[in-house]
Amino acid sequence: MHTGKARAYTNIALIKYWGKKDEELILPMNNSLSLTLDAFYTETTVSFDPALQADTFLLDGQLQNTAATAKISRFLDLLRELAGTKLRAAVTSENFVPTAAGLASSASGLAALAAAGNAALQLGLDDSQLSRLARRGSGSACRSIFGGFVEWEQGTDDITSLAHPLAANGFENDLAMLFVLINDKQKDVSSRDGMRRTVATSAFYPGWLASLPEDLAAIKQAIATQDFTALGRITEANGLKMHATTLAAVPPFTYWSPQSLLAMDLVRQLRATGTECYFTMDAGPNVKVLCRRQDEAAVQQAFSNSFSSDRLILAHAGPGISYL
Ligand code: ADP
Ligand code: DP6
Repeated sequence: MHTGKARAYTNIALIKYWGKKDEELILPMNNSLSLTLDAFYTETTVSFDPALQADTFLLDGQLQNTAATAKISRFLDLLRELAGTKLRAAVTSENFVPTAAGLASSASGLAALAAAGNAALQLGLDDSQLSRLARRGSGSACRSIFGGFVEWEQGTDDITSLAHPLAANGFENDLAMLFVLINDKQKDVSSRDGMRRTVATSAFYPGWLASLPEDLAAIKQAIATQDFTALGRITEANGLKMHATTLAAVPPFTYWSPQSLLAMDLVRQLRATGTECYFTMDAGPNVKVLCRRQDEAAVQQAFSNSFSSDRLILAHAGPGISYL
């Protein structure tokens, strides 16, 4: 039996990945940039076992159905190919993050699986190789291999598409992100289906793509100069632009709920009254509020007037993967 265990944290994109140019290899249409966070993570154990006839996938104590297990099996095939083995595996995973609710469980989940597989089969993959591998499971997972600010270079093939951490200057430690959990149930449109429909049909998609190089250059400058105002403005505008593309898809859809709009409005009110903060959203109704660490208590307090406190989770910059 060959067993490995690893932990990976979720990451939230400040410049979003939204669309693939290669569905099989998961090559994205654009570079994206994220912050890895310490509040949500996945721990996964993988055991390749000669006694097993088929792969099994236990998530949060529940044996997963055929479709979910098939997805894991396809990823395990990549590991088996690298190791030159046909052994089946038992995957046991715990999400310390709601699954499929727009809180990036796919990022931490697939990054943890890649790292656990690496350990189990003693593949000796370094973090760059692991980032490429995790990408094949879920695009955003390639960023969760690393801590702090991370950029995913879109690349042109399996080798050149991978993430790397930005040079650390301590800025990430001055930041906080408040997760406003509006709904942590599984969403109707997965990020995979949502981005596919948007790329194929949205009249706004070309505009989104054309605007990205400028956003990316500006946010990297903001990080290098530790300019929180610029960081927040770019983050908020980029997220809104991504969500606008879904409204022009055919058929149109949105991840927003009335409560999401309420949370966005609260952010604007806080800004207007002197507490600087900005929001971003992913493929779900939950809102993430970016602020300076020194303002986190004020932001949390303001949100607790409209949202119950168990729905508010504060996160800070988190580390990359670890082997357990
Ligand atoms: P989210 O916003 O949570 O990332 P997605 O719809 O993008 O939602 O991805 C959810 C999918 O990620 C799940 O259906 C499952 O395929 C995968 N996933 C989530 N957690 C894990 C895990 N711990 N191990 C393996 N795969 C996982
Ligand atoms: C909106 O990485 O979950 O969160 O590659 O199809 O698995 P797949 O999609 P996934 O998409 C994440 C989309 C996003 C933006 C982001 O994280 O960059």
